[in-house]
This record gives sequence, structure tokens and C-alpha cells, in this order.
Amino acid sequence: MNKTRMKTFTTILSQKEFSKQDIVTLLAAQGNDEKLLFARSKEIKELEVGKKVYYRGLVEFSNICSKDCFYCGIRKGNTGVSRFNLSDEQILKAADFAHKSGYGSFVMQSGEISSPAFTGRIEKLLREIKHMTNDELGITISLGEQTEETYQRWFNAGAHRYLLRIESSNRELYQKLHPNDETHDYQKRLDCLYTLKKIGYQTGTGVMIALPFQTLEHLADDILFMKEFDVDMVGMGPYIEHPDTPLYQYRSELLPLNERFKLALRMIATLRIVMRDINIAAATALQAIDPLGREKAVKVGANIIMPNITPGTYRNNYKLYENKPCVDEEPQDCVKCLDVRIKLADAEIGYGEWGDSQHFYKRNE
Ligand code: 5AD
Ligand code: FES
Repeated sequence: MNKTRMKTFTTILSQKEFSKQDIVTLLAAQGNDEKLLFARSKEIKELEVGKKVYYRGLVEFSNICSKDCFYCGIRKGNTGVSRFNLSDEQILKAADFAHKSGYGSFVMQSGEISSPAFTGRIEKLLREIKHMTNDELGITISLGEQTEETYQRWFNAGAHRYLLRIESSNRELYQKLHPNDETHDYQKRLDCLYTLKKIGYQTGTGVMIALPFQTLEHLADDILFMKEFDVDMVGMGPYIEHPDTPLYQYRSELLPLNERFKLALRMIATLRIVMRDINIAAATALQAIDPLGREKAVKVGANIIMPNITPGTYRNNYKLYENKPCVDEEPQDCVKCLDVRIKLADAEIGYGEWGDSQHFYKRNE
């Protein structure tokens, strides 16, 4: 290893402000540099947000979707998927399970649907969950692009965090990944993020990593975008091709899966170093590549895990990408399994705690 280069890398790691070039250098780290990057991100994580990992029980309650994103297995145009929609009772049961298992929070995610009936249904469910759990269960929702009025009604009903991935902060790349129409408009997505923040949600975004056409410069810009937008939470994971999607045709141009995985870990580590006190989720897509993927992400900077608590029979139909993990498990199987796994990753579990983004509180002080 060249000594001057080594020094440069170490110098970057000790900075508090980062240029785009610095970030590209961190994202490109290999060998010993990569080890240094991971050691630094672990150190910053423990210093800023501690060793605790917080659980968010995730229920993917419906795969009915009005969108046609080129990467996603449950896109509207994929007629090979059997569509499901859990009943209110099943969703409430999942929330009760999360509460009783000591998961501090509950995440409700589905395909994107916008209708007065859907808005009303979610609003009612949110109120019921809050009531049923004596306001003890934190609630995150991830229900796509909606009007300001809808976001406000859900906020008033008790949701306090919202996840809406920007997917890529680069407009041109975004356009290559989505149909060119009104329902897939980059500006609209961005406006939604600003609206969520204005309403007062802890706002989360994220991107897919190692997409076709994506460069390290794009990823560096994604990190700068998160910083500039001042996000509270991030969930991001590797892109995994799905055969029934238009992007599948570019599969030969992708990095091998293990490289995508490592790049995703470097993104997490770099983001931790740049944004220090935010919440970072270890995405399930990591686990689809490596069975210990989420634990590895926790070691390099992630502090949130979203165990899937969707009732087992439905999991198989919520396949955004290939090789989705745990599709044959039932929620209770994941509790024990995760406990052991997290302890192995040199972390503790924040049972029964909301584990809110510290960044959110600081920016609202
Ligand atoms: N690979 C990885 N992540 C995907 N998502 C959708 N399709 C894929 C895929 N093929 C991610 C998107 C979306 C989130 C719910 O899942 O980022 O926002
Ligand atoms: Fe689902 Fe282990 S996390 S079985």
C-alpha cells in the first residue's frame, strides 16, 4: 500500500465536511482502506447513536400497485403476480404482534394506491393501532406519493415517520428507471419529501445501490442530497434484478452480486460518517444477497432493522426482487433468530423503545 495515498484516505476519514470527490474516494475504498472506512463508521455510530439496534416490525400489507417502475417485481405491468390485500384484522394482529414482541415500532408498507377509500382505511387503522397499544408502538408508514392532505391526515392519526425513497437523486437516472409519465415524475417525488418534512414527520428516504447506468458519482450525489435535504432516516440497499421487469435486460452490465453487496456496505458506512446521528436501516435486500447481510450492515453503521412480520402465506407475493429472504417463515420464527444474530454483530437491541432519529430532535431544537 502506497503511504501517501493511505495518508490521504485517513485524512478524509477524519474530516467533518466532505466534498463529492471525498465521498467518491470513500465509496471506492478497497482492501485496507475499506477496513479503515468500516472501522471509522462503526466508531462514529457508537459515539453518536450508541450500540443499540431498534426493530421496526414490517408488514407489507398489499402488493397492489398503481406504478410501473422498471426495477420492481410488483409493478403494475407484471401480470404474473397474484395480488393480495391483507384484511384490517390481519394488519391489527401484526401490530399487536410487534407490540407484544417488544418491537418499538411498526412499519406499514404497500404498493402505491391513492384513493379516498385508501386514505380513510389507513387513517382508521392508524388510530386503532395507537389506541390498541396505548400509544406505545411507534408507527412508520411507507405508502408512496400522496397529496398533502392525505399525509396530514395520516400524521394527525398517529403516524410519525414516513419513508419515501428517492430511488436516485439524479433526475436523468431517475427517468431511466421509470416510465416517462405524470405518475413517475421526479419533481413530484421530491415535492412529496418536502411536504412530509414540512408536516413534521421524521422523514426517511433512500436509494438503490448498483443500479444499471449508476456511477459512484451518482451515489456520492445521493449522499450529498440526503445531507442537503437533512433527512432523519435512510434505508438503502443493493439493486437486485427481477426477471419480470424491463431493467432485467441490462443484467449483464451489473456488478456481480458480492460486489453490489460490498458497495452497499460502503454506502452505509460513508453515509454514517457524513451524517453521523441519523437512523440508518439495514435493508432486507442485503440479506437477499448474504444471509448475514443485515448484521454486516449493523457492524458498519446501520442501527435499524425491519423484521418482516407479514403473515407467512403472503410473503411470497411481495417479491420486489429475486431471492427475497424469509419468505417461508412465520413472524414468530424471526424473533429468536434475530436476537441471536444481532448479538453476534456486537450490538444490543432496544426492546420496547421507539428509537427515534436523534437527528430529528436536534434539527427541531
Ligand atoms: N431491487 C432492490 N430494491 C428494490 N426496490 C424495488 N425494487 C427493487 C429491486 N429490484 C426497493 C425500492 C422501493 C423499495 C420498497 O424497494 O427502493 O422504494
Ligand atoms: Fe426471518 Fe431469521 S429474520 S427467519
